[in-house]
Amino acid sequence: MTQKKIFSEESVQETMLGPLWARAKYSAEYPELLDDPKAREIIEKIDYDFSEIENYLGEWRGLGLLARAKNFDLVAKNYIQNFPEATIINLGAGLDTTFSRIDNGRIRCLNLDLPEGAGFRKSLIPDTPRNKTIAKSVFDFTWFDEIQFEESKGIFLIGGGFIYYFKEKKIKSLFQSLAEHVTNGEMVFDATSKLANKVLNLRAKFAGEKEVRMHFGVKNPEKIFPKWSPHIELKEWYTIWSKIEINPEWRKKTIKAIKKSERIKAAKIIHLAFIE
Ligand SMILES: C[S@@+](CC[C@H](N)C(=O)[O-])C[C@H]1O[C@@H](n2cnc3c(N)ncnc32)[C@H](O)[C@@H]1O
Repeated sequence: MTQKKIFSEESVQETMLGPLWARAKYSAEYPELLDDPKAREIIEKIDYDFSEIENYLGEWRGLGLLARAKNFDLVAKNYIQNFPEATIINLGAGLDTTFSRIDNGRIRCLNLDLPEGAGFRKSLIPDTPRNKTIAKSVFDFTWFDEIQFEESKGIFLIGGGFIYYFKEKKIKSLFQSLAEHVTNGEMVFDATSKLANKVLNLRAKFAGEKEVRMHFGVKNPEKIFPKWSPHIELKEWYTIWSKIEINPEWRKKTIKAIKKSERIKAAKIIHLAFIE
């Protein structure tokens, strides 16, 4: 029988299913946007009714999740060219399949998620010597002690679909801690605007979602992240669709929504460096 629930309580861990569903569905239809055979393989193994997610996300938000992954892949691949044995740390990894898309045969990837989420991930993406899951909150900074890495080989962090679920104070403490522990590393993540958070919170409320809300909204990244620590440098930021080709075959409604969200800079890709 198809399950309606995977996690014991309604929780933020449930949010990992949407990006997986989107990458599985739309990478099959539009592999030129993002090819993600691993996501398609994993979703086949999950006995879950994805219809609510499908209705909730629809084509526009679904494709946005592929655009996010594509942007991350481009930044990560560029970093790996200079640091082919880099350690990749995926914060709030969920069922993210970045490793399978960017693997050069030499990188190492550590995927952090909350215990239940990490357990679910491991059951679908078993640990291998170069791709492991760590069951720990990102905010439990003891994970730094667990992840031995050689700074000279490079460290690259990914935070997809993560920062907006928390209050600014908490994210600030995370970034300050990263700035203390990581030197000569880089990070890519996405952020939403305050307005986008408001709209998404209203949608979530009307969809009956009780727990999960968006909190931290980012207007101008220049005025936030580098101000938190002298060891944080903003390398670049851009709106999520600015580097992606729009396919005229997508629905008119989707293209219109993409254009509108770009105009108001609703979703951003932010690329930082941690410097000495
Ligand atoms: C929207 S999902 C994004 C998943 C993945 N990054 C992706 O793009 O497919 C958010 C993820 O963050 C995880 N998460 C939430 N709070 C966390 C925490 N404190 N520490 C680690 N992971 C957390 C959730 O369990 C979930 O897997």
